[in-house]
Amino acid sequence: MRAWSPCTNADALDFFLPHVSEHLATVGEVPRLHCKQWEYAQLLEVRRRLAPDAKRLVGLGCGCEGAEEITVTDLYEREGAWDVARVDPRKAFPSMENLRVHSMDMRKIDLPERSADFVWSLCAVEHVGSLYDVIETVRQAASLLTDDGKLFISTELNLSGSYYRTKTTLYLTVDMIEKIVRNSGLYPVAPIRIALSSHPMNTPVEAKVNDEHGAIPHIIYRHQQRPGDGIFATVVSFVLSRHDHGHPIVEVDPELETTLRALGTEGRRLNRRLVPPWKWW
Ligand SMILES: C[S@@+](CC[C@H](N)C(=O)[O-])C[C@H]1O[C@@H](n2cnc3c(N)ncnc32)[C@H](O)[C@@H]1O
Repeated sequence: MRAWSPCTNADALDFFLPHVSEHLATVGEVPRLHCKQWEYAQLLEVRRRLAPDAKRLVGLGCGCEGAEEITVTDLYEREGAWDVARVDPRKAFPSMENLRVHSMDMRKIDLPERSADFVWSLCAVEHVGSLYDVIETVRQAASLLTDDGKLFISTELNLSGSYYRTKTTLYLTVDMIEKIVRNSGLYPVAPIRIALSSHPMNTPVEAKVNDEHGAIPHIIYRHQQRPGDGIFATVVSFVLSRHDHGHPIVEVDPELETTLRALGTEGRRLNRRLVPPWKWW
């Protein structure tokens, strides 16, 4: 087992922590070791442990996630919105009387400074554009926090370190994450620990297999545009606040590279069974 942390990357072992099945049960799911499930459970656990008294909550790039006294923001009814932002959250969650839906480009946050006890963004900041755009978005999100407020971010983590983006998504390397946090004006509540266990369910599979088959529950996948041009990626979450606890921003496990290499070798073998040859690496 590994101990829970609000600031770390997803790992298969995390799905065996009791809070994960508890949180997933609230949306009628059982753990199947999928990144989205991990992010969702992280968010709820962070809220419970680090921001239990938060009253004013603001979500960025929410699409149609559920929430409480809450302002959800996205590019609702605007160009650039994803399918998930085409559904009006008020219709999806009619019983939530305190839900405010605000159409906003998160690169130009127009909510009052110091107006939120808890700000969160699930799987969204990596879609705003360049690294500069992500830095600027997180910096503006930080300005929303009250003195004791918390900012929770969950995003794509590029474990391979080489620059990689698709049309819609920038896969953030450890260096990029460090830069984003450094420029936010906030501090991590714990070091952002990047580590992987050698649990077999951390074996990477090709992105399409991971996307299309909910029954193939690997966390890490290889996203590939051209053969041989891929990276290993997973998700990472971190919590920032105005208080400097003196932590380093990021701590990378010295074993990470070795573990990833072994998992990658196993993934290569597995993928020869799962995908056509032009998707092999
Ligand atoms: C992958 S979806 C995640 C949606 C939701 N947070 C979830 O986890 O289900 C990314 C969301 O970010 C929104 N988005 C992308 N760029 C944005 C921007 N510049 N400002 C606000 N929202 C943006 C998209 O419209 C989409 O709803």
